[in-house]
Amino acid sequence: MDRNLALEFVRVTEAAAIEAAKWIGRGDKNKADGAAVNAMRSRFNQIDFSGTVVIGEGEKDEAPMLYTGEKVGTKKGPAMDLAIDPLECTESVAYGRYNATTVIASGPKGTLLHAPDTYMKKIAVGPLGKKIINLEASVKENVSRVAKAFGEKVEEITVVILDRERHADLIKEVRDAGARVRLITDGDVAAAIATCFPESGIDILMGIGGSTEAVLAAVPVKILGGEILCQFKPKTDADIPKIKAAGVKNINKIFTAEELAKGKELTFTATGVIDGPLLNGVVFGKNKAITHSLVIRGTSGTIRYITTHHHYYK
Ligand code: FBP
Repeated sequence: MDRNLALEFVRVTEAAAIEAAKWIGRGDKNKADGAAVNAMRSRFNQIDFSGTVVIGEGEKDEAPMLYTGEKVGTKKGPAMDLAIDPLECTESVAYGRYNATTVIASGPKGTLLHAPDTYMKKIAVGPLGKKIINLEASVKENVSRVAKAFGEKVEEITVVILDRERHADLIKEVRDAGARVRLITDGDVAAAIATCFPESGIDILMGIGGSTEAVLAAVPVKILGGEILCQFKPKTDADIPKIKAAGVKNINKIFTAEELAKGKELTFTATGVIDGPLLNGVVFGKNKAITHSLVIRGTSGTIRYITTHHHYYK
């Protein structure tokens, strides 16, 4: 893959983050999302590459821009598949909460699972827990195995979980096992990746979240040496044929990060919109905006943090 392309994508996530951040706390998630989508699409189309959106804003008939199958870029450069979330955590932006990002994952054709927009049960952990976790094991077993691998007591392990009714039993089981629980209103992409950064204070992600988010998280988690195990949990029966159309024969299959995002030629780029465990959000100043981004490249394993000062003199 062209080495500069991963860095070119930062301009795309930065632009989307700045436009989305203008909608923080204004109570309109569609406007926030629309602003991010517009910015992302227009920036993509300035880059010399031939991108195909394989995970995007939805099917063509429901999403006017960045829909699944849409071609982006000038078509003059390399061909890439793209999994994108122009605004991960639309509600967090609308209500001025926490942990919103703009996200792009890329890889050669056929490397990213074309997951439809439904749910997956997930467990994610950083490198020390990679070979330890098991989606079919009990919560207690997973937590205590991870604690052992980390050389810590169970009481020192922090599990991040989306704050949802469906997780009531899971939250109780983690507490009963003796670990700490951090509940987040949204954003299990950043939370999964944060397990690979010990300084985030997050050790394990557990629970049911978006399946497209699972593919987005799998790219950096894999490159960073961690693991994410996932199993489809269709929201409705109507999702089952969509999952099968993505080439998944056994709906109960447990996917590893490698199966969600194959090979090494992968990239991941994200910019913070609102502060979260992975990235700080956009900071607006007089005639300027400051953005915080993360770029991860699979071939080299390089992790870049990029702080950019954008000046507007109008
Ligand atoms: P959106 O960007 O679509 O708002 O998704 C935010 C998110 O919290 C994801 O991080 C997570 O995977 C998913 O929603 C969980 O779905 P639900 O809100 O239906 O529980």
